[in-house]
Amino acid sequence: MSEGDRGDSGRVVVVTGGSRGIGRAIALALVEGARAVLINHYDPDDDAAQETVGRLEGAGVEADQVKLDVSDFGAVKEYFEGVIERFGGVDVLVNNAGITADTLLVRMSEADWDRVIAVNLKGTFNCSQAVIRSMMQRRTGGIINVASVVGLVGNAGQTNYAASKAGVIALTKSLAREVGARGIRVNAVAPGYIETDMTAHLPERVKEGFLSQITLGRAGSPEEVAEVVSWLASDRASYLTGQVVHVSGGMYM
Ligand SMILES: NC(=O)c1ccc[n+]([C@@H]2O[C@H](COP(=O)([O-])OP(=O)(O)OC[C@H]3O[C@@H](n4cnc5c(N)ncnc54)[C@H](O)[C@@H]3O)[C@@H](O)[C@H]2O)c1
Repeated sequence: MSEGDRGDSGRVVVVTGGSRGIGRAIALALVEGARAVLINHYDPDDDAAQETVGRLEGAGVEADQVKLDVSDFGAVKEYFEGVIERFGGVDVLVNNAGITADTLLVRMSEADWDRVIAVNLKGTFNCSQAVIRSMMQRRTGGIINVASVVGLVGNAGQTNYAASKAGVIALTKSLAREVGARGIRVNAVAPGYIETDMTAHLPERVKEGFLSQITLGRAGSPEEVAEVVSWLASDRASYLTGQVVHVSGGMYM
C-alpha cells in the first residue's frame, strides 16, 4: 500500500463505480503516486466513464474503464485476473459501487432487497476476494470500502440499503483482522448526505430532513469524501485498519 511500493512506476488503483459521483472523485484523488487508475461501472452507456478516463489520462496516469456488474462473481473474478496479469497486482481497491432501491419494508419486493444486497454487499465481497490472494502474496495492499452513515443509524425506507452498508462495515472489520499481519489495511468511509446522482432524485422533504441533522448545515461534496479515501489509501494512515471514518459533516458523532 505504500506509495513507493512500485518504485518509479507507482500504484495500481481500482475504483468500482468510478464513472461518476463519489467514485469519480475518488479515482481522480488517487492519481497522485499512481501508475494506473482503473474504473468500472454499470451505467447504461459509457459516456460518464469515458469522461472520467479522459480526466485521469489528462492527469498523467494510465486509465481504463469497463462495464462490469460487481454482483457477478464470475465476471468480477475474470476482470481482476486480467488486471493482475496485466499490472502484476492491485495496490489499492476502492469498493465504491452502490445502489439504492428505497421503499418501506412493508412494501419492499424480494427483488429490491436482493439486488441492493447483491451489489452493495456481495459486490464488496466479490471484488475483495478477487484481489486479496495477490495482495497477501505481495504482503502489501489496501482496501477502502464505501459504507454509509445509514449503516450505523438506520433509515426508514432503506432497510435493504442500511443492512447492506452495515454488512460492509462488518466485512471491513473482519477482513482487516484476517489480513493485518500481512501488511494489508482494510478501512471504510461512511459518507452522510453527499450531492450526487444518487441523492439528486430524493424528494425535497427527505433532503430537508437530512440537512436538519447535519451539524455543518450543508450537504457534502464527492471531493470531500475522496480526500478522506485518498488519505486512508496513503502511508499517512499507515497505522489505521478496521476503521470507519465518518464523512458526514457531523451527521453522525
Ligand atoms: N450520495 C450519498 O449521499 C452517499 C451517502 C453515503 C454513501 N454513499 C455511497 O457512495 C457510493 C457512491 O455513491 P454515489 O452517490 O456516487 O452514487 P452514483 O449513483 O452517483 O454512482 C454510483 C456508481 O456505482 C456504479 N454502479 C452501480 N451499480 C453497479 C454495479 N452493479 N456494478 C458496478 N458498478 C455499479 C454506477 O455505474 C456509478 O458509477 C455508493 O456505495 C453509495 O452507497 C453515497
